[in-house]
Amino acid sequence: DETKAGVKGLVDAGITKVPRIFHHPNGCPDSINQLPTNLELAHELPIIDMKGIHTDQERRKEIVALVRDASETWGFFQVINHGIPNSVLEEAIRGSHRFFDQDTEVKKQWYGRDKTKPVSYHSCDDLFVAPMAGWRDSLVFRMSPNPPTPDQLPEVNREISLEYFEKAVNVGYLLLELLSEGLGLSPSYLKDKIGIGEFMMMMCNYYPPCPQPELTYALTRHKDVSFLTVLLQDDSGGALQALYHNQWVDVTPIPGALVVNIGELLQLVSNDKYKSAEHRVLAKQTGPRTSVPCFFSAAHNSTVAIQPIQELLSEDNPPKYRATTMKEFFDHFYGTGLDGTSALQPFI
Ligand code: SIN
Ligand code: FE2
Repeated sequence: DETKAGVKGLVDAGITKVPRIFHHPNGCPDSINQLPTNLELAHELPIIDMKGIHTDQERRKEIVALVRDASETWGFFQVINHGIPNSVLEEAIRGSHRFFDQDTEVKKQWYGRDKTKPVSYHSCDDLFVAPMAGWRDSLVFRMSPNPPTPDQLPEVNREISLEYFEKAVNVGYLLLELLSEGLGLSPSYLKDKIGIGEFMMMMCNYYPPCPQPELTYALTRHKDVSFLTVLLQDDSGGALQALYHNQWVDVTPIPGALVVNIGELLQLVSNDKYKSAEHRVLAKQTGPRTSVPCFFSAAHNSTVAIQPIQELLSEDNPPKYRATTMKEFFDHFYGTGLDGTSALQPFI
C-alpha cells in the first residue's frame, strides 16, 4: 500500500531524503544531462498566436508557416488564443489537484500500470523505460479507442476532464491540419491518411515538492513516442525544459497557453522535416506542480504502414526510415526502454 500512496504519499509522510530508487544512476554519468541551461533562449521558444485562424485566410497561411518553422527547428512551441477559455484550463488544473489530494484509500481503486485500462493511477510512469524512477504521480486516461464511460472516471474531476479533453482534441486536430499543410499536403492528411488521433491518451501529472531535487528528476529526458503532444501546464515555471542546440531551455508557463511538441512518430513520417525534441522535468523544492498532456497517436493495431510519407520523397529526399507498424514500434519501445536515445534508432 506504500506505493499506492504515490510520491505524494512519501512527501505527505514528511520524508526528508529522496529514496535510492529515485536517484540518478550511479557510475553512469548521463552526459547529456550535464548540458547547460540557457536562460536567455527561453524567450525565443516560439509562441504562436492562433487568433484569426478561422476567419482570416491570410492569417491562416501565416500560422501554417509559423507552425512549420517551429516544428522544423525547435519541435516545441506554445499556442495562445487557441479557443479554449482560461476558465476551462484553470479548472482542468484544479481538477488534477482534486484527484491527487484525495486519500490513498480513494485513489487506490484506480491503481495500476495497465494502460489498456480506461483509467489508471500510479507513480513513476516511466519506471520501466527510464534509468530511474521519476518524482511524480500520474493519472492516465485512455480516451481513444473505446473512451471510458463517465462512471469509470474519478468523480472529482470527471466533468472537467471530459470538457477539457474534448476541447484539447479540437486544438490537436487543428494543429494536425496546419502541420499537414506545412508539409505541402492536404489539411486532412495526417489525421485521415495516417490515422493520427485514433489512439489518444490524456494524463494528469502531479509533481510533489522534492526535498533533494539535485538527486533526481521529476521526469528524465525523453522524446514523446506520440505523433503530437498538447500539454497544459500550471504556472510553476523552471520545471519543464526542452533541448535546443544542446542546451536546456525552460518552457516558461504563459497564462492561457498550451505547449505543443512533435513526437518521434511525426518526425519519422515527415522524414525528419519536423523534429521531435528531447525534454525533461526538473524536480523542485517547491510545488506541487501539475500538468495535463494529451498524446495523439495512431491505433496500436493500425494496418497503415508507418513510414516517411511518399509525397514528401524525391531523389534529393530519400526515405530516412524503413517502414514499420505501430505494433512493431511499440513492441520495440516497451521491450528496450528509453535510455535517452531515440526510439527511432532501429527503424533508420
Ligand atoms: C511529459 O513530457 O510527458 C510531461 C511534461 C510536463 O509535465 O510538463
Ligand atoms: Fe514528454
